Amino acid sequence: MALKKIVILFSGRGSNMRSIIEKLHDKSLFVAAAITNNPNAEGIKIAESLGVKVEILPHTEFASREAFDEALVSKIKEYSPDLTVLAGFMRILTPVFTDNIKAVNIHPSLLPLFKGKDGIKESFYSGMKVGGVSVHMVTSEMDSGDIVAQACVPILKDDTLEDYTQRVHGTEHELYPKAILEALNISI
Ligand code: GRF
Repeated sequence: MALKKIVILFSGRGSNMRSIIEKLHDKSLFVAAAITNNPNAEGIKIAESLGVKVEILPHTEFASREAFDEALVSKIKEYSPDLTVLAGFMRILTPVFTDNIKAVNIHPSLLPLFKGKDGIKESFYSGMKVGGVSVHMVTSEMDSGDIVAQACVPILKDDTLEDYTQRVHGTEHELYPKAILEALNISI
């Protein structure tokens, strides 16, 4: 049977994308393309070096969020993915995207706590003994769709923010590939 297909969207470093490609691509599923809005994203080289096609769609070339999202939706649909995977895709998405594309995102906190761009820092300074990582369905409300998977990350007494951040990323790299398989009903 043909492998299910995903498209990955990214904007920067691409460490989650790397983990997804290394663990799943051409084994449990097929990464049909990786699309970025940032022509300077470090992740471009990572995807290419792992044999995944990269498409660059600079948001600066579009007059509005909706116009960009329309182009993005068309680009994604060219690949007919079973699921679209946001991995550090730093864009606020409009309903043009969310009404048309089935997508998951990873967020570095235990949602619904600490939504937004400072999820790691706010978890770390919350006074809680655990933070975590969440994979959720993408809806028009940021960081708010149904939760697909979560993992806790301990916040230790002597941690610096940097220590905790590293632990969060390590957990993301383990959780996200598993959550994608779960969202696609693929058993391994
Ligand atoms: C991750 O921490 C993810 O949770 C957040 O953006 C970051 C992306 O990092 N949404 P990377 O580009 O995958 O290294």
